[in-house]
Amino acid sequence: MTIVIFIFHMLYVLPIYSSAATTFVFGDSLVDAGNNNFLFTLSKADSPPYGIDFKPSHGKPTGRFTNGRTISDIVGEALGANSFPPPYLAPNVESNATHIGINYASGASGILDATGTLFIGRVPLSEQISNFEESRRYIVKAMGEKNAKRFIKKAMFSVTIGSNDVINYFQPSIPFLSEKVSPTTFEDFLVSNLTMNLQRLHKLGARKFVVVGVGPLGCIPFIRAIRLISKGTCSVEVNTLIRNYNKKLKAELHRLNKVMGPKAIFIYANSYDVFRAIILNHKQYGFENVDGPCCGGYFPPFVCYKGKNANTSSTMCDDRGKYVFWDAYHPTEAANVIVAKKFLNGDPSFLTTSTTIEANTGHRTNGTRRKQSPLCSSPCNKNSNAQTNGFYESLNGCISALEKLKEVDAAKHMEATE
Ligand SMILES: *[C@@H]1O[C@H](CO)[C@@H](O)[C@H](O)[C@H]1NC(C)=O
Ligand SMILES: *[C@@H]1O[C@H](CO)[C@@H](O)[C@H](O)[C@H]1NC(C)=O
Ligand SMILES: *[C@@H]1O[C@H](CO)[C@@H](O)[C@H](O)[C@H]1NC(C)=O
Ligand SMILES: *[C@@H]1O[C@H](CO)[C@@H](O)[C@H](O)[C@H]1NC(C)=O
Repeated sequence: MTIVIFIFHMLYVLPIYSSAATTFVFGDSLVDAGNNNFLFTLSKADSPPYGIDFKPSHGKPTGRFTNGRTISDIVGEALGANSFPPPYLAPNVESNATHIGINYASGASGILDATGTLFIGRVPLSEQISNFEESRRYIVKAMGEKNAKRFIKKAMFSVTIGSNDVINYFQPSIPFLSEKVSPTTFEDFLVSNLTMNLQRLHKLGARKFVVVGVGPLGCIPFIRAIRLISKGTCSVEVNTLIRNYNKKLKAELHRLNKVMGPKAIFIYANSYDVFRAIILNHKQYGFENVDGPCCGGYFPPFVCYKGKNANTSSTMCDDRGKYVFWDAYHPTEAANVIVAKKFLNGDPSFLTTSTTIEANTGHRTNGTRRKQSPLCSSPCNKNSNAQTNGFYESLNGCISALEKLKEVDAAKHMEATE
């Protein structure tokens, strides 16, 4: 399967600039690859043991808020990237904009500018997009307006944001929400603001979007601790708001696909159900602990750090592969790998991988255009079970289907090699 995808992407290599594996990453600490290292902020992951399992840095911290790779790292690798998009704020990265891509994500940031104020430094989504505008200027300078447009059109834009907005909403100490709006109003507000930001990216030429919904934060150690939720259960109030938000977001992306498609694709990644499934059936996935963080203890302030010896360090679990949560907020790499695989391949309990690929790429067709709505969560996968469950069935399938629609010539090539 990886091989199929690999071949698929090779075929799109253009003589000069190929953006087949280029990803521009936007979001919060779930996907921050080190931007916050360059900020004055309380939201930092630049000291051990963060990154302890991150091979490219030989276990040194990179600013990723987990022990290893993030979901976007893993997805990028599977889609053929041979390195990770570097953080925008690091020195001398701008030329990566025409190759691997750039990561704009920032820990503690949210959809709303005011989100994360408590942490001081962070780059809110709107500013992340302004930073992309800067990169776009570089791309235009490097390859000219026409090529730049073509290049950006093919690159992937992944957006993983909203968690901190929700967390802040449930923290009464946050100034901007002291006059609390109702959950419904808040959900609508987030969706409309995120939409505005996506439209801004679209105006800048982005066409391939993967928008990750908010996960079941009612189950993370931090929320369970501040809301005094007992072992083995999650905050219903928090998860209900998130489910409603995700539902609205998904509907909105569906609408965007209708009004902006077929030239643009907005894929909704259902991280909620995937994480929920892991939490509910954790043993089945090889996890032993879903309640507490691997690093940093079970109670506030939860800090995960490494001192000179064991006595001056926070606690760390022995087997990081057995924990769903790395710290009080973030999943372990082990959990990220499972989520990324589900994003890429679909859920094997609903659908087998080979049929997904076939159904979605039209592998057996002769390259004729298929009338297919690009929204992954429904028409890209034909399995009604999966549709009901709302699983973002297969990123590979969706992206392949999109490429198929747009790259008839390349599809002919593919047949020639088959
Ligand atoms: C990408 O960015 C890194 C810094 O992270 C820099 O050293 C490298 O030269 C850049 N590579 C390309 C191909 O632009
Ligand atoms: C969206 O957010 C931006 C920046 O946070 C703000 O200026 C704007 O008023 C918001 N708009 C909507 C519709 O929420
Ligand atoms: C750590 O603390 C224990 C008990 O307080 C002590 O016996 C031990 O020597 C300490 N270890 C180090 C490396 O300081
Ligand atoms: C491709 O397949 C379709 C439907 O099976 C057929 O109508 C069409 O003629 C074929 N096109 C080519 C170029 O073979």
